[in-house]
Amino acid sequence: MAVLDRTTRRLIEGLKARVKFLTVLVIILSLALTTMTILYIRKDTEAPPKATSSNLSSTKEISSSNVLQSSSLVNEQSSDISSEDESYSSSTSSETSSDSVTANAILGDSTSSWNLKLVNGKNSLPKGYSVKTTTIKSAYNGYGYITYDSRAISYLHAMCAAAEKDGIHLSVISGFRTNEKQQSLFNNQVAKQRANNPGLSEEELIKKAATVSAYPGTSEHELGLAVDFNSVEETFENTSQFQWLQAHAEEYGFIMRYAREKQSITGVIYEPWHYRFVGEEHAKRINDLGYCLEEYIDYLKKLGK
Ligand code: DAL
Ligand code: ZN
Repeated sequence: MAVLDRTTRRLIEGLKARVKFLTVLVIILSLALTTMTILYIRKDTEAPPKATSSNLSSTKEISSSNVLQSSSLVNEQSSDISSEDESYSSSTSSETSSDSVTANAILGDSTSSWNLKLVNGKNSLPKGYSVKTTTIKSAYNGYGYITYDSRAISYLHAMCAAAEKDGIHLSVISGFRTNEKQQSLFNNQVAKQRANNPGLSEEELIKKAATVSAYPGTSEHELGLAVDFNSVEETFENTSQFQWLQAHAEEYGFIMRYAREKQSITGVIYEPWHYRFVGEEHAKRINDLGYCLEEYIDYLKKLGK
């Protein structure tokens, strides 16, 4: 009986040791799993918003059947336009440190990110710049074709689909343009200016034309991130489409690029129809700050982004 008791006691002690060992093992494994999950979530939130292939395929109307073409296009840049990186930078830095902390917490990208690339009359596209575009057949172009930067076309499509759901029909009348197309539009604009301003010199005509149609090599349409909606008339601002875009474009990462009061900075006339993709966080921040893209890029540079 005593022997049996000793055996039972040993058995119980052995079991206790095993349970202890297994408990420690489970705790270690749980800790490791929690750490890995945290690291994974952090990595995931650092990725550009919505620009994932899963999101692209979850956007109903962009199916593989209406993605017609995905291509890498090379834009030839005109050498007549000078490139000045800091063209709009102002000389004072007035950001407070708390502002910097907030902005840095919100904004993962830097000014060199593809979605923040600044293109204007003083910042032309680099020679040989290429952009991967995707072309889709779409109801938002009268069942014609929309060509846009491959990384941003899902946002554009999602925005048009959301507007449609709200009873607002957005029609994309211009997305990505080749350098040749931009050249042709620019030439037409110079001819128009010549007809309207017979007294102006050729140099003055070119300067004036560039406030309406960007000089070839300096258009955001060549960058693949600009989109014109419905009508290239100032009266577009009186439409329900414009009202909807003003209220919702930022939710999809788009900003109205050329505000009336920013012409002295952008170099372009008021264009209520022209939107530019920058990403959701930046779009919201730009609108909250009341900046145009040039001012926002300066702001980020001052924050050391
Ligand atoms: N209308 C704008 C400035 C462009 O041509 O890109
Ligand atoms: Zn445009």
